[in-house]
Order: sequence, then C-alpha cells, then structure tokens
Amino acid sequence: MDDLSRIDAALTRLLPTRAAPATLAEAMRYAVLSGGKRVRPRLVHAAGAIADARPATLDHAGAAVEFIHASSLVHDDLPAMDDDHLRRGKPTVHARFGEAIAILTGDALQSAAFATLAAAPAEAAVVRHWVRLLADAAGAAGMAGGQTLDIESEAKPSTETELEARHRGKTGALIRASVAIGATAGNLSEAEVSALDAYGAAVGLGFQIQDDVLNATGKANLGKPAGSDQRRGLPTYASVLGVAGAREAAHRQLRQALDALTIFGSRADALAALARGMIERER
Ligand code: IPE
Ligand code: IPE
Ligand code: MG
Ligand code: MG
Repeated sequence: MDDLSRIDAALTRLLPTRAAPATLAEAMRYAVLSGGKRVRPRLVHAAGAIADARPATLDHAGAAVEFIHASSLVHDDLPAMDDDHLRRGKPTVHARFGEAIAILTGDALQSAAFATLAAAPAEAAVVRHWVRLLADAAGAAGMAGGQTLDIESEAKPSTETELEARHRGKTGALIRASVAIGATAGNLSEAEVSALDAYGAAVGLGFQIQDDVLNATGKANLGKPAGSDQRRGLPTYASVLGVAGAREAAHRQLRQALDALTIFGSRADALAALARGMIERER
C-alpha cells in the first residue's frame, strides 16, 4: 500500500462515528474523507520513518493530526469566519449539513483527535508528549490564536512580521507539530529532533505563504474559492509583498527546510520531496 492509501485507510478505520447520531457521523465522514492532500499525515509518516517508528503507531498519530486539520477547515469555512461554500471541489460542511451540525462536527473531530492519540500503540510517555504537542498546535498559542489574528487583521494594513506570526499560528503550528510527532515516534537524537523541528517550522510557514499565492492567482483546480482574501480585505503575503515577492518568500522557507535536512543525507529524501511538493504546489 502506498502512503496515501494507507493514510486514507487509517482515517476511515479510526474515525469514531460508531456511537454518533447518523447526521453527525455522516458530516464527520464528509469532512474527513472527501479528498484532501493529506500533507500532515504524510509528514508524520515521513518523519516517523527516519526515526524508525512503527507504521501502526504512525497511523494513529497521522489520523489524529488530520482530524484536527479537518475540524479547522469546517470551522474556518463557517459564515462567522471565512463564509466559504466550496472546499475540495464540494459544498462546505455547513453548506451541506447546516451551521449547527458543522460547528458540532468540528467539535467532535477535535475530540476524535485526542481519543485517537490516547489509543495509539505507543509508550505512555510518548503519547503524553504528543498530546501536549497537538494541544499546543491546535490551541490558543497555535491555530486558534492564529485564526484570531486572521479575523482581526481584516481591512487593516499588516507588516510582514505580523503576517508571519499569523501564518505560523493558523497553519504553521499544526504542520510543525506533525513533523515533531513523527520525529518523536521512534529513536532520534536531540539534535536530529531539533533539525526536524526547524524543517517543520519552515515548511509550515512556506505552505501558508503558497496558499496566499494560490488564493491571489486563482486557478479553477483549487477546489476552493480564489480571490476570497482580496474580497475580505485580508492582507496576505501576496498583497503585502506582491505575488512574485510572496513566491520568493515561500522559496526562502523551502531552502531553509531543505538545509535543515542535510544532516540526514538521503534518509530525508521523502521529507525533501514533500517540502518541494508542499511549497511548489499549484493546488
Ligand atoms: C488548507 O490546507 C488550509 C490551510 C491550512 C492552508 P490544505 O491545503 O492542506 O487542505 P486539504 O486538506 O489538502 O484540502
Ligand atoms: C486556513 O486558512 C487556516 C485554517 C483552516 C486553520 P485560510 O482560510 O487562508 O485557508 P483556506 O484558503 O480557507 O483553505
Ligand atoms: Mg481562514
Ligand atoms: Mg479559509
């Protein structure tokens, strides 16, 4: 099985819908299983492979991270936030199931993430470390904080420093945590874990900068609305630095990510390819 089929199989198997009311179960499956590039679980697996971690352990860790990501998209698309109706080429969860169910779907997926970590076949101390990493990445100092800055920066000028903090929070933190979770799933030295952390931080920021570029340059294959940042009056790397400047900034992060991998030699080929794919992507 390639990584992607393995990841999708794990998501299907680990999504805790059995005891959920039918509507909620359907909305949770819709939010998680209708496409998506799966970059976060792929990072968990690729970092975990360098650490010689057991694939079964990484299945749980990768699914947990993707459940948080899916919950963030459901809430991000809500009318109170970005008010978007298209995601992965389909109606967003609230457009399909209504706002109340969408809010509850996001809540249930958040809980599902931590339940999945708790059930991971790994040592208790490792799981406890992951809970901390994932909670910090999803919470006030990570995604929820970054999303707050995002909402508050509408229709106001932003400096590049402000943009960077917002992007590291709303998107970078969970990507960085995905790498850190994989890195600590097996046996690596402190120096190696910290090199992977530098990689994760760079690729996380670069990924959101490229998301800004794609929102501004708008191809139909995005599967979500283009031009929406400009309509919302949201300052982005593309509006502050221009599209060419934003592409350059994304590439700077790509170079930093690749530099951080040099100590691993060819063992990091998969992570290097992922970084390129994430930052040079066109969708
Ligand atoms: C979209 O994330 C939202 C951001 C955090 C930039 P992805 O581009 O990973 O979305 P999917 O999962 O592939 O749809
Ligand atoms: C997404 O940011 C960040 C999170 C969902 C946490 P955006 O609002 O910029 O991403 P898209 O364009 O909706 O995917
Ligand atoms: Mg948003
Ligand atoms: Mg959005």
